[in-house]
Amino acid sequence: MAVLVTGGAGYIGSHTCVELLDAGYEVVVLDNLSNSSEKSLDRVKEITGKDLKFYKGDILDRAIIQKIFDENKIDSCIHFAGLKAVGESVQKPWEYYNNNITGTLTLVDVMRQNGCKNIIFSSSSTVYGTPDEVPVTEKTPKHPCTNPYGWTKSMLEQILSDIQFADNEWNVILLRYFNPIGAHKSGRIGENPNGIPNNLMPYITQVAVGKLEKLGVFGDDYDTPDGTGVRDYIHVVDLAVGHVKALKKIEERAGLKIYNLGTGTGYSVLDIVKNFEEATGVNIPYEIKPRRAGDIAENYADASLAKEELGWVAENGIREMCADSWNWQKNNPNGYEDNEISDDEANAAAGGYVILPNMPTPDSNGGVA
Ligand code: NAD
Ligand code: UD1
Repeated sequence: MAVLVTGGAGYIGSHTCVELLDAGYEVVVLDNLSNSSEKSLDRVKEITGKDLKFYKGDILDRAIIQKIFDENKIDSCIHFAGLKAVGESVQKPWEYYNNNITGTLTLVDVMRQNGCKNIIFSSSSTVYGTPDEVPVTEKTPKHPCTNPYGWTKSMLEQILSDIQFADNEWNVILLRYFNPIGAHKSGRIGENPNGIPNNLMPYITQVAVGKLEKLGVFGDDYDTPDGTGVRDYIHVVDLAVGHVKALKKIEERAGLKIYNLGTGTGYSVLDIVKNFEEATGVNIPYEIKPRRAGDIAENYADASLAKEELGWVAENGIREMCADSWNWQKNNPNGYEDNEISDDEANAAAGGYVILPNMPTPDSNGGVA
C-alpha cells in the first residue's frame, strides 16, 4: 500500500517523504514543480537510501491522478500541493482559488472514484484570523482571513469536513500548521523560496549568507513583551513526523479530526534574531520598520490534542530550528540551484561560512559585518 503525497517536492512535502520512507511507507509523489525542484526528491532518496515514485503533473489534471491510481495501490493521500504566497494571492485570487480549491476538488473526486477516502490536508493557523485567545485550541473560533490564500485554507477545511459528514467512509485529518522553519539535519533539503523571502526565517538566513543586507522588523509597538510579533515556530522535521502520526490515526479510522501542530511556545521576532545569532555565531543586522498589513500581534498553539490523540509532540527547540535553517542555507546559498558545491565551499561551510562573491567577510567575532 502506498501513500500519495501531492506537493511532495516542496518544503514540507520533501521532509515528510523522508519520514514516511523511514517509517517504511511506499511513497508516490505528484508535483507540478511550480514552486520546487525535482532535486529535492533526489536528495530525499539520498538521505533515506530508499526509492520513491515521482509523477510530474498537476492536481487539476484528472488524467494523471487516475494514471497514478491505475499504476499504484494508493491507500491514503497527504495533500500538500497548493500555492502559498500571501501577497501573490491578493494579486491573483482566481489563480489561488482555482489551483487550491478546484485542484483539491479534482483530487478528492478521483480519489473517491477509486475507493480511496483517506486524506490529510495541510491547513494553517491562518484560519484563526485574529484569534480570540492565545494559545489557540482547535475549538478557538475561526475568524475571517485577510487574504485569498488564507481563505483557500479555511474554505477547504469546510469542504473536506462536509464531504466527510456526507460520507463517513472518508477519514479526513486537517492539520493546522503554525510557523514551520528549520531543515533536515543533513542540510540536504530545506526551504527554497523564490525571489526575496516574505517569511521571517528565510529572510534571516539570506541576511546571514550575505544575499540581503539587513532584516526589516515589521513593527515594535505590538502588545507583546518586546513589542514585536509573536509566533509559534515549529521545526519542519517535527511537522513531518506529525504527518506520519496522523497517517497512523487515519489507519485507525479517524473520521474527521483537526489538530494544531505547533510547539505551544511563542517567540518574538527579536527572540528569533537573538536565538539565531546565538545558535550560529552570525550577526543579523536589523532595523525597525512599520507594521506589515494583515499581521497580528501574537499567535501560538495549544497542541495538547495532538499529544493526546496522536502521541505527537514537537521535539526540537528554537536553537535547533535556527541552527538547522542556517546549516541548509550556508550549504545551499542558492537552494537547489547549488547542485554540487565544491569541497572548499563545503569545508568553509562546515566552519560556519560559505564565502560568496557578494558576501561580506566574516568579522573577528564570528559574525558577518
Ligand atoms: P511549497 O510551495 O514548498 O510546496 C508546495 C508544493 O506543491 C510545491 O512543490 C509546488 O510545486 C506544488 N504544487 C503547487 N500547486 C500544484 C498543483 N496544482 N499541482 C501539483 N503540485 C502543485 O510549500 P510548503 O511550505 O511545503 O507548503 C506545503 C503545504 O502546506 C501548502 O499547502 C501550504 O499552503 C501549507 N502550509 C504551509 C505553511 C508554511 O509556512 N510553509 C504554513 C501553513 C500551511
Ligand atoms: C505568514 C502568513 C500566513 C502563512 C505563514 C506561513 C501573513 C500575514 N501571514 O505568517 O498566512 O500561513 O506566513 O507561510 O503573511 N517578520 C518581520 N520581518 C520579515 C518577515 C517577517 O519582522 O521580513 C515578522 C512578521 O511581522 C511576523 C513574524 O516575523 O511577526 C513571522 O512572519 P512570517 O514568517 O511571515 O509568518 P506569519 O506572518 O506568521
